[in-house]
Amino acid sequence: MRQTARNVLLAWGVAFATLATPAAAGEPALQPLPPAAVVDPARAELGRHLFFESRLSGDGSRSCASCHVPDKAYADGLPLARGYNGTEHFRNAPGLLSVRRRARLMWDGRRSGDDLAGAVREMVTDAQTMNGDTRVIAERIRQIPPLFALWQRAYGAQAELRGEQAYDAIAEFLRTLDFGVSAFDRHLAGDRSALPPLAAEGLRLFDGKAGCTQCHRGPLLSDGRLHRLGVPENPAILRDPLRTVSLLRHQAEHGMPDPMAVRTDLGAFTITHQSADRGAFVTPTLRGLAQTGPYMHNGVFASLDEVVAFHERGGGPGSELRALALTAHERQALVAFLQALSAPLPPLVVPPPFDYGSVAGDAQ
Ligand code: HEC
Ligand code: HEC
Repeated sequence: MRQTARNVLLAWGVAFATLATPAAAGEPALQPLPPAAVVDPARAELGRHLFFESRLSGDGSRSCASCHVPDKAYADGLPLARGYNGTEHFRNAPGLLSVRRRARLMWDGRRSGDDLAGAVREMVTDAQTMNGDTRVIAERIRQIPPLFALWQRAYGAQAELRGEQAYDAIAEFLRTLDFGVSAFDRHLAGDRSALPPLAAEGLRLFDGKAGCTQCHRGPLLSDGRLHRLGVPENPAILRDPLRTVSLLRHQAEHGMPDPMAVRTDLGAFTITHQSADRGAFVTPTLRGLAQTGPYMHNGVFASLDEVVAFHERGGGPGSELRALALTAHERQALVAFLQALSAPLPPLVVPPPFDYGSVAGDAQ
């Protein structure tokens, strides 16, 4: 009898906990960062070296860190990424902290978050980013003894060396990258003085009247889904023929009907060819914004004031956003809250480049 009464109480407890969470999906909209990932340390260490290794690119000029700069939360500080030599890119390079938690990868969501190694392969082999070749990469690793030693430690001395392992190792390194603890996290953990008063007001708006948590929710402040905001074009894409060509090539590569006719970045539509996806992009994380500007898929907004003003007026043509009637003070409060989502960057020791000269000397 006592046991039954206890079970009833427990059931009530569970029901109460469920009711107490504000999110429709049963999950709180605002969540702290999850604990660090468990990784294979030898593979992650090889991946760390490869991340900075320019010899993964076709002509040895670019590494991942050329566009994903550790000091900039692994973004590059530019509106649009530089391309591989002789090309220019048509999208903004996203930061990579906590990339392992993203439900979808790339601004148009064309890759599942589970496929981090596939995203790395795409970055290495794409003509606009690194123009590398998987077989050549295996050969280059074999020819650089310190790198080969790291590879043997990660995959075993008897294993067959394959270029794909480089992608796998870099993905393992990316899983070690996490955002630091922000003022917002300290606030969630119960430190009521962590957020300055203006940012605390911004948080109430963010999760209340401004409706930001409708899309920016969960540990990364992203629902991982596609949304149409009607973000204006970045005129630099059409002004620079090398960027226009990259956009048109991307459209042709993904089988978009009549790829040369459209000179706007149509986001997920280019991949799915579904009209509902026209101009749809994945909700980005809002952590680390202090280091990752300019903002949006095409870096069209230089400041958070501009981003908040854009959301506030209900976005651009075809947007899902509704216009909000916010005062100038409320917009400032939202910006102060967004700033409180950044934390000092995690420390990282950049490995020194291995040089062929020293290797040749060792062999004599
Ligand atoms: C020439 C610049 C450049 C180089 C070099 C580069 N990237 Fe990127 N990276 C980008 C751009 C631009 C995007 C966004 C592409 C898009 O959305 O279509 C991106 C996207 C990504 C993403 C998806 C992130 C997300 O949140 O959606 C990952 C992961 C990534 N890069 C990892 C790497 C790795 C690892 C390397 C090295 C092997 C690398 N990148 C090299 C420019 C670059
Ligand atoms: C309907 C979903 C939705 C809502 C609601 C929403 N956002 Fe966004 N937000 C997005 C999407 C999608 C993007 C990226 C759009 C793009 O690049 O084309 C974005 C981009 C941003 C960015 C730029 C991030 C970066 O790294 O480039 C900020 C900052 C931002 N939103 C803040 C807010 C704030 C503050 C609110 C509430 C006033 C809000 N958002 C409401 C979907 C939404």
